[in-house]
Amino acid sequence: MNEQSLSVREAVIGRRSIKVFNGQPVDREDLLSIINDAVWAPNHGNREPWRLVVACGPELEKLYDLLRDLAIPRWKELSSEELKNQMKKFTLPGAYIFVIVPEDARQKERLEDYGAAACLLQNIQLLAWDKGIGSCWKTPGFLDVPKFREAMKVAPGERVISMLQLGYFDELPKGKERKTAEEIITVFGES
Ligand SMILES: Cc1cc2nc3c(=O)[nH]c(=O)nc-3n(C[C@H](O)[C@H](O)[C@H](O)COP(=O)(O)O)c2cc1C
Repeated sequence: MNEQSLSVREAVIGRRSIKVFNGQPVDREDLLSIINDAVWAPNHGNREPWRLVVACGPELEKLYDLLRDLAIPRWKELSSEELKNQMKKFTLPGAYIFVIVPEDARQKERLEDYGAAACLLQNIQLLAWDKGIGSCWKTPGFLDVPKFREAMKVAPGERVISMLQLGYFDELPKGKERKTAEEIITVFGES
């Protein structure tokens, strides 16, 4: 499903975080096309404060080894069946995007850059959704672990802000209820 088929509103309200994928591969071309569109995210000073490490295809095998070592440190004690089972949360997505942002020493710029990268991530999620590809922004604790940073070639002064898993899925999760506009707004000047 490569043609744009959803309105912006449909994509925004219809997208769900997909946490159970079905193992179908994601095409690198689709991934690149999504990223090429997503970079039109707003960002202050046109700093484009992001770089992305992607995995989809043969490089996934090496990534699984890294994720296994970090997320299941005692994996050697598991039976191969149990390990395979525990690894499903990593092996069933068809692609990964790790978003890396600079950590500006100035607080204002750092917040702006994180905000801009979050816009990029949401663009990616919505554009992927439009292609029938689900995703979930994940922030596992190992994103800041030196072994992971080394493997991702993260430089001092940079931070990985997301492990975005992408892929195809069989079940659409139900959306969790959101507060309405009336519940979250106050009108300026009214008490
Ligand atoms: C900054 C951020 C971090 C998140 N981290 C995780 C995570 O570590 N694990 C996870 O299962 N979901 C994570 N999520 C996804 C949320 O669980 C999900 O967006 C939320 O449940 C709302 O569901 P929806 O996206 O389907 O509307 C994260 C989302 C954001 C924006």
